[in-house]
Formats: sequence, C-alpha cells, structure tokens
Amino acid sequence: MRTVHVELRPGLVFRLLEAVAQPRPNHWARVWPTSLAMSRWLLDQPPASLPREAFELGCGMGLVSMTAAHLGLVTHGTDREPLAIALALENAERNGVVGLSTSLLEWSDPITTSTPLLLASDVVYEASSPDVLYALAHGAGLLAPGGVLVMAGPTARAELANTLVDRFRTAGYAHGGSTLQVEWEGHHDEVELHTLRRPEA
Ligand SMILES: C[S@@+](CC[C@H](N)C(=O)[O-])C[C@H]1O[C@@H](n2cnc3c(N)ncnc32)[C@H](O)[C@@H]1O
Repeated sequence: MRTVHVELRPGLVFRLLEAVAQPRPNHWARVWPTSLAMSRWLLDQPPASLPREAFELGCGMGLVSMTAAHLGLVTHGTDREPLAIALALENAERNGVVGLSTSLLEWSDPITTSTPLLLASDVVYEASSPDVLYALAHGAGLLAPGGVLVMAGPTARAELANTLVDRFRTAGYAHGGSTLQVEWEGHHDEVELHTLRRPEA
C-alpha cells in the first residue's frame, strides 16, 4: 500500500490509498490519470447541471466517485474487485467524504437499478467492453431515459471507446466530446471525455 496525494484544484487534495503491490492484472489497484481528468471535469460543471445522484462503473480506488460525492451527489461506486470497492470506501472515509456507497458489480451481471448520471473512467480496454457496457447501460437500462453517461479514457488508446460511442450515437444518444490534458506522477496524458445523453423514453 502507498498513499498518493491528488490535487484536483487549489485547496482540494484527496489522499488516496493505492494497492500497488497487487498481482497483475491490477488495473483496479491504482489511480489512473483519466480519473483526475474526469474529476476535474465534474468540478467544472455548473452545479445545477448535475443530477442529485451518480453511479460509477469500474471505480477502482474511488477518486471519481469521491469527487461526485464531494459535490453533494449521492454516489454509488462499483467494481468487480472486492478490494477495490473496500479501498474506495476507505479512501472516502479517510478524506471525510460522505454520501458514497460501494458494491461489487461485474458488468455482465444482471442489474435492476437505474441512474441519471453514469460515470466510467478508463474502463474500456478489453475487446468485449463495448458490447458489455452497451448492454448494461442501454439494454439493461442502467442509464435512465434522459440520463447522461460520462465516459473518458486516454487518447492514446481510444479505438474501443470510439466503437462504444458510435453504438450510443446510432441509438440516438446526444454526444459531446472534449480533449483534456492531465499531469500525473511526472507524466503528461491526454484524455478524451465523452458525454452521451440517452433519449427520453
Ligand atoms: C484502468 S482501471 C480504472 C480505475 C478507475 N476508474 C480510474 O480511472 O482510476 C479499470 C477498472 O475497471 C474495472 N473493470 C474492468 N472490467 C470490469 C468488468 N467487466 N466489470 C466490473 N469492473 C471492471 C477494473 O477492476 C478496474 O478497477
């Protein structure tokens, strides 16, 4: 374990536990640059434009969910890794963030809930991910009619994410996109962030 300090903006620093020594694949075990970019994007949104609740897929160490909860959204973070969701909750508690719950979720599992704001930071990197995430968000109805999916990932490996964006656009979702720059641990990363609004039923 180690603690990393993440400054999201002047005066807002989260101290996050990372489980760096986990065996591979350990994607869940660290804070990824995309999560800084998405968190800063959330902080930049006009408060009135955000709904009252949010749901995160693949929350890892919990930074994006913590940011949403910090903004006052009742937030639920999920991941398929039990240690990830435990650490996300621990990180929220260590930083005095309230309003965050977590649970295990593998995306192919059945789901009965829906959300007006679905967050997905750097989660589209397996060949099956576009199909599985589309089936979950759209097919199974995790994203409510009129709700928004905010999805982001590195520009350097955008192909699968773009495939998924095209699926949503074909289904009539309104798409917005922006390119964000982020410095993290001495590296510069470029991140593509997409917003996809589901048509009203
Ligand atoms: C690259 S990490 C990103 C973690 C965090 N969102 C961030 O940006 O720092 C990808 C996360 O997605 C989770 N994940 C990948 N495939 C998944 C699946 N099929 N079901 C649930 N979680 C999954 C991993 O466990 C991991 O925590």
